[in-house]
Amino acid sequence: MNMMTRLVGLLAGCMLFMATAQANSLYQDLGEQEGIANLVEELLFNIADDRRIRHHFADTDMERLHRMLTEQICELAGGPCTYSGDDMVTSHTGMGVTRADFNALVENLQLAMDDHGISVGAQNRLLALLAPMHHEIVGL
Ligand code: HEM
Repeated sequence: MNMMTRLVGLLAGCMLFMATAQANSLYQDLGEQEGIANLVEELLFNIADDRRIRHHFADTDMERLHRMLTEQICELAGGPCTYSGDDMVTSHTGMGVTRADFNALVENLQLAMDDHGISVGAQNRLLALLAPMHHEIVGL
């Protein structure tokens, strides 16, 4: 095999590797429907244990919140779901959620993702999708 053939082979191998790596969607990396439902369950347990923010959820129907968050994250991650809940402004108006509350919730999500063995790359991709929502949640 001459040098050129080897180089072309190597290049094709690299491209195939990159294409395969890219093919894994965030939805798959989060463990699809079941993985996301488990992740949200743990997020809600973490929130219930968190003195900084748990008071916000005192009157909340946690079963509905679990269903809605699971749908929302599934859809955001590119999964086959359609979020059927209220929009973020409507859901959070009148709560007085602060930036610190928002960060605390994100911290609880990160803890849940760590516990579920979600890769740092996938964690960052999900957080990047959620971070811009603070405009629709904080200070209303
Ligand atoms: C990226 C951040 C957040 C996302 C994606 C998010 C998402 C959601 C979703 C999908 C719902 C359900 C809406 C429905 O029932 O139709 C909801 C409700 C709720 N959220 Fe958030 N939320 C976020 C941040 C926060 C924060 C920081 C707090 C307070 C610390 C908070 C407190 C609540 C509460 C208390 C409810 C339930 C409202 C009710 O009882 O009707 N959320 N949120």
